[in-house]
Amino acid sequence: MYEERVVSGMRPTGTLHLGHYHGAIKNWARLQSEYPCLFFVADWHALTTHYDTPDVIEQHIWDMVVDWLAAGIDPAQAVLFIQSRIPEHAELHTLLSMITPLGWLERVPTYKEQQEKLSNRDLSTYGFLGYPLLQAADVLIYRAKFVPVGEDQVPHIELMREIARRFNHVYGREPGFDDKARAAAKKMGSRKAKLYEKLRTRYQEQGDEEALAAARALLVEQQNLSVADRERLFGYVEGGGRLILVEPGVLLTESSKLPGLDGAKMSKSYDNTIGLREDEQSVTRKIRTMPTDPARVKRNDPGDPAKCPVWQFHLVYSTDDTRAWVEQGCRSAGIGCLECKQPVIDAVLAEQAPMRARAQRYLDDPTLVRNIVADGCEKARRLAHETMREVRDAMGLSYT
Ligand code: TRP
Ligand code: SF4
Repeated sequence: MYEERVVSGMRPTGTLHLGHYHGAIKNWARLQSEYPCLFFVADWHALTTHYDTPDVIEQHIWDMVVDWLAAGIDPAQAVLFIQSRIPEHAELHTLLSMITPLGWLERVPTYKEQQEKLSNRDLSTYGFLGYPLLQAADVLIYRAKFVPVGEDQVPHIELMREIARRFNHVYGREPGFDDKARAAAKKMGSRKAKLYEKLRTRYQEQGDEEALAAARALLVEQQNLSVADRERLFGYVEGGGRLILVEPGVLLTESSKLPGLDGAKMSKSYDNTIGLREDEQSVTRKIRTMPTDPARVKRNDPGDPAKCPVWQFHLVYSTDDTRAWVEQGCRSAGIGCLECKQPVIDAVLAEQAPMRARAQRYLDDPTLVRNIVADGCEKARRLAHETMREVRDAMGLSYT
């Protein structure tokens, strides 16, 4: 509503692999120069499934943040922080839980899916059921406009939107709302107040979306409105109450085009990963021993790139010329598989070299990382405080 803020989080799973890079982090690195971004370590979310192994979380957090920095997340542009350092997320989660019907949580597809998938753990806990609600708090507390996530997370964003709408509906309808909204409009000056009123009428009577957009743009420009008045005016145009929480939109990240070494999804549990900062020898060895089209038993057997995981790597890493060379050479048995893999090895190593270099600074001096995160927590906390003041106020909790 105020700024086009972007928020996203990641559970601390330790050092990242190239699947994470191509699936999420590369996108974050692009977004950080387009929007004000907040990226955080979702350590509480890690506990929802790994509550019985808390000892590894801390190391995983620092390893992951170093990887973010190595991958080009720039602390001068984006705010990096740790979820549990901002306890207001938990406060908002509790408050939202008051108005969240159980059915909404039980219906989230990941709930049953993950319970079945991780059947070796007892996930019949409240924490696990509440996972998407905590996630809603993570985002709503910063009034984020967009959340970059993968396909699997889309239902979670939809839930956030429903919760925000419900919250505004229940708590945005303060007594004397219309009078307060009109008084707020006057504070913009009579010329702008008139314009606002005209746009509001046009939207309400004719459903004119352009008028709605113009009214919103007008409000964004106003420097001298209090947060509460701004919320009133945003809500008043639409004919509702105060818009205290903002409904976030999805910024869909294409799912990673980079599969694992065996062609399945790259994942630690399948043991088919290449680490973001894995050393050169190990990367070279892993790619050289990657499986290829099973039809190419002998060097002169022709193959089909479509049946080969190495081809998937070419699709991510190679130029059109190299790809044409592979297509032709594979089908005609003109090139050997090791030959075919060399450009991939070169490209992966070239991608990793600057990451390894950036990481070194932070590995040599871990206080740099601590300071970046401390600074990010500070900034996040300030924003969270502002929203929570409004939320407590709306829910009648601002007594002292
Ligand atoms: N659930 C997300 C995942 O598994 C992690 C996450 C937690 C998150 N809180 C968030 C993502 C808030 C986006 C916004 O990937
Ligand atoms: Fe795969 Fe390349 Fe070998 Fe063809 S030549 S099977 S694409 S590694």
